[in-house]
Amino acid sequence: MIETSVYAPPRMVGGPEECYFYHTMALPGIGVVEGEWDLRDNVLAYLGNVDVRGKRVLEMGAASGFLTFTMERMGAEVVGYDLSDQQSWDVVPYAGQDIEGYLAARREHIRRLNNGWWLAHRLFESRARVVYGAAYEVPEAIGPVDVCTFGAILQHLRDPFLALQQALRLTRETVIITDPPPPGYFAGRRYTAWYHRLWRRLPWLQPRMSEWLRAESISFRPEPAVGEPKDTWWLLAPEAVMRMIGVLGFDTVSLTFHTQKNRGRDILLYTVVGRRTRGAAIGDAVASRSVVAHPRDEDSRSFGRDVERREREV
Ligand SMILES: C[S@@+](CC[C@H](N)C(=O)[O-])C[C@H]1O[C@@H](n2cnc3c(N)ncnc32)[C@H](O)[C@@H]1O
Repeated sequence: MIETSVYAPPRMVGGPEECYFYHTMALPGIGVVEGEWDLRDNVLAYLGNVDVRGKRVLEMGAASGFLTFTMERMGAEVVGYDLSDQQSWDVVPYAGQDIEGYLAARREHIRRLNNGWWLAHRLFESRARVVYGAAYEVPEAIGPVDVCTFGAILQHLRDPFLALQQALRLTRETVIITDPPPPGYFAGRRYTAWYHRLWRRLPWLQPRMSEWLRAESISFRPEPAVGEPKDTWWLLAPEAVMRMIGVLGFDTVSLTFHTQKNRGRDILLYTVVGRRTRGAAIGDAVASRSVVAHPRDEDSRSFGRDVERREREV
């Protein structure tokens, strides 16, 4: 019987002209290539300050690979996961629009994005591997991983819970989710920092508090009147994400807020870090394992300060 691998075969990419860079990166022998997001100054916050050294990491939505190669440099064995030009983006199907044309353009965009990953892979002499597919059918053949990251991907998925369920069934220890909060998340929440402190200290009050502050909100982004956005479905409040991963066996160990550079502008994002306390990863005989990767206490504590600073700014 011929065994087929789930991992994509290496792709030879000549140079940056064949690529799309989502991330700004310094590529050996080429220099800095400009992308939409420059995570270089604050990447630890983006990854929830989790120590990935010695960990097997599944990175959902690897794009042009800045996080792949950064985590590898930190000592992780990384398996990237992404769409290729053989799959379709979850495009919002606005009635009357040329969805087929948009999908074709997306496929070409994804091909160039994948090229960016492979060019960086070669120049960094990386050992990371990548699997191509939709987030809804993560192959079991990848095997168990210690850590799973969802960087800015849930907002683009029609079914974010299914994607979490698929990836977390392989995840033994830690999940890291980074996304933008919904609009108005902070507005009118003068007491957000206090609320979160209480939320963490009084877990039995959590369901009631979410209700009081309507913190568990999910904002549906498609606007029928303008037919935009086509590539984004939701903005999820961190509380909604925490409850989703809670269903899947992960307790939240930290919620932090940080800013990252998007085309020179500071954008506020949140990162939820969850640790498995219930259930087991497929292929993992041990039901509950201790977690070595912990966000630093100081970073968890800094949440309140960051929010207070942010509230002073707005
Ligand atoms: C906004 S980028 C985020 C890149 C990177 N994770 C980060 O945090 O900087 C979203 C990534 O998710 C991937 N993606 C979008 N929809 C997907 C789907 N349905 N299945 C798998 N990957 C998807 C995109 O191809 C892209 O690489």
